[in-house]
Amino acid sequence: MDVRHAPEEIDVTAIPTIERALRGVMDSGSPVVPRLGYARATVEIRVAGEDGRVFLDLDGDPSIGDGGRPADIEIGLTPEQGRLFARGELHMPTILSAGLATFSGPIRQYLEVDPVLRRLLTDQSGAPRASTTTDGRSIAAIDNDIAAIEARGVHKSFGRASILRGVDLQIPEGVIATVLGPSGTGKSVLLQHIIGLLAPDAGEVVIHGKPLRNMSRSELLALRTDIGVMFQDGALFSIMDVYNNVAFPLRQHTDLSESQIKELVMDRLQSVGLESASKRYPNELSGGMRKRAGLARAMVLDPRIILCDEPDSGLDPVRTKLLAELLVEQHALTGGTMVVITHNLPLIKEVSEHISVLYDGTILESGPADQIYASDKPFLKQFLSGAPEGPLGMD
Ligand SMILES: Nc1ncnc2c1ncn2[C@@H]1O[C@H](COP(=O)(O)OP(=O)(O)OP(=O)(O)O)[C@@H](O)[C@H]1O
Ligand SMILES: [Mg+2]
Repeated sequence: MDVRHAPEEIDVTAIPTIERALRGVMDSGSPVVPRLGYARATVEIRVAGEDGRVFLDLDGDPSIGDGGRPADIEIGLTPEQGRLFARGELHMPTILSAGLATFSGPIRQYLEVDPVLRRLLTDQSGAPRASTTTDGRSIAAIDNDIAAIEARGVHKSFGRASILRGVDLQIPEGVIATVLGPSGTGKSVLLQHIIGLLAPDAGEVVIHGKPLRNMSRSELLALRTDIGVMFQDGALFSIMDVYNNVAFPLRQHTDLSESQIKELVMDRLQSVGLESASKRYPNELSGGMRKRAGLARAMVLDPRIILCDEPDSGLDPVRTKLLAELLVEQHALTGGTMVVITHNLPLIKEVSEHISVLYDGTILESGPADQIYASDKPFLKQFLSGAPEGPLGMD
C-alpha cells in the first residue's frame, strides 16, 4: 500500500496544523477574536525539529502574519504540545510555569489572552477544556514574567492575633485560580493585601511584576481599576438599582458619556443574564442574581485580574454549578487572571486550573489543579474530600 497519502501522514508536522487552526479562529467571525489583540504583542510559535513557524499578530486587529519582522514573544513547543495547542487542549500557563516549553519576551502579555484563544480553538475542534497536566513535574517557582499575582513572605497581625505568617504565593497569568482554606484563616485578609487595601507588616505583594510597596497613590488607583473584586458580602449599594450598581465604577473611574456607559453596562448585564433585572434593587434579587450583579460590576472596567471572594456563599448546589459555569465562561471571554476564594468543593472542582491552600497563616500547597488533587498531604486529602476525620478539626 502506498502510505504517502494516508490521511494521518498529512499532519505529520505540527506547524501546518497550528497554522490551519489559528486561521480557522481568525476567519471564524467570532465577536471574541478582537479580544486577542489585547496582548499588544506579536507572537511566534516554533516547534522543535520543524522548520516552519507561525507568526501571530496580536496587536490591534488579530491576524496571522508572514513574520517579516521579529516577534515580541517566541514560544517553543514540542510536536505533541503543538498538536494539543492547535486543538485548544494545551494549558499554556501551566506548561510554561513548569518549564515544559520555552519562551522569550514579555510572555505575560500573551498569557493574558491565552484563555480566550484556548476557548476559540476548542470551540472549533470540539475538544474538552484544557487540562493543567505537568506530567508529574512539580513547579518550584514560577518565572517572574509568568506570575500575575505574587505574595512574598507576607506577614499580617491584628493586635496580638497573627493571621498571615509568611505567605508565599504565585498565581500564573491567564488561569482561573482558587484559594482554599478553612474559615477564619485569612483568605479575605490576603485578598485585601492583593488590592492594596491592607499593607503587609513584612514581605511584599507584586502584581503584574510591580511591587505595590513602591507604587504612588495614582499608580495604586490605576491598579485598583485593573483588579475587579466581587466582595464576599456582595457589597451592592442597596439604594441603587442593578443598572446603577454596575455603572458605578464607570462613573467613578472613566469620563465615558451616559450613552457609552449604557452600552457597556447592558453588555455586561446581558453576559451574566441580568438584562431584564436592570431596574431591580438588590433587595428585590435572589442570592444568585445578587452574585451575578456583583460579578458584572467587578468586570465592568474590563480588569486584567478578577477576584471573587466566596462567590458561592448562600447559593444552593444548582445555583453554585451555574455560577461556576458563568465564571469559566466569563474567563474564556475576557482572558486575564481570575482568583476565586472558596471552600466549596464542587466549585473548586469545576473551575480550578490552579489551586493554593492557605492554612495556619501560610500557603500549605500551591500549583496546577491536577497536582494538588494528586497530593498525598493528609490535610489536603481531608480538605479536598470533605472528610470529617483528619488533621483539620473544629477549632
Ligand atoms: N481589619 C481587621 N481587624 C482585626 N481583625 C481582622 C480584620 N480583618 C480580619 N481580621 C481577623 O483575621 C482573621 C481572618 O479573617 P478573614 O476574614 O481573612 O478569614 P477568611 O479566611 O476569609 O474566613 P471565611 O472563610 O470565614 O471568610 C479573623 O480572625 C478575623 O477576625
Ligand atoms: Mg473570607
